[in-house]
Amino acid sequence: MSAVLKDAPRLARMEDGDLTEVMAIEGAIYSHPWTRGNFGDSLRAGYQCWTWRLNHELVGYFVLMVAAGEGHLLNLSVAAAHQRAGHGGALLKEAMRLARGRGAQHIFLEVRPSNLAAKALYERFGFREVATRPGYYPAHAGREDALVLTLAL
Ligand SMILES: CC(C)(COP(=O)(O)OP(=O)(O)OC[C@H]1O[C@@H](n2cnc3c(N)ncnc32)[C@H](O)[C@@H]1OP(=O)(O)O)[C@@H](O)C(=O)NCCC(=O)NCCS
Repeated sequence: MSAVLKDAPRLARMEDGDLTEVMAIEGAIYSHPWTRGNFGDSLRAGYQCWTWRLNHELVGYFVLMVAAGEGHLLNLSVAAAHQRAGHGGALLKEAMRLARGRGAQHIFLEVRPSNLAAKALYERFGFREVATRPGYYPAHAGREDALVLTLAL
């Protein structure tokens, strides 16, 4: 009898060659997605850009900037078909581990007040709200504020 081994997702550095798949997910899950140029700029700037693949399928990704003892999570995304299966939490843990490994003592991120899924995820990890950035995000009607959340690493 042979055992069925379930493959685990793998973290890998994002490259230009990932961007078509990244853009397909990005366009499907955000009302105002990042552009290909935003990802290209992040790659060229040397930010921590990582993909999360399950059996070669792109399931999620994140972009993290670490500077001056602080990590800033700029993008955290899970493909719609794979949401609510633990990937977002796993990716957040990886981002926190990378930030810590590069000397960050805190991690910061922005989230839309209307993004209940992301807020619930961050709350579960113990993030707390420290500021509001008025009109930070484009919205269907005008602009939406950003909540700034932080967690000590
Ligand atoms: C936010 C996001 C990354 C979460 O990824 P995910 O893989 O679905 O999250 P997980 O399965 O790891 O969820 C972990 C916990 O977060 C909370 N959570 C996640 N999605 C939720 C939802 N839709 N409603 C309520 N709580 C939710 C729950 O507490 C969940 O634990 P549970 O499933 O045991 O209840 C994902 O929904 C996503 O990519 N959304 C679109 C992009 C986005 O908004 N990114 C964040 C920008 S700040």
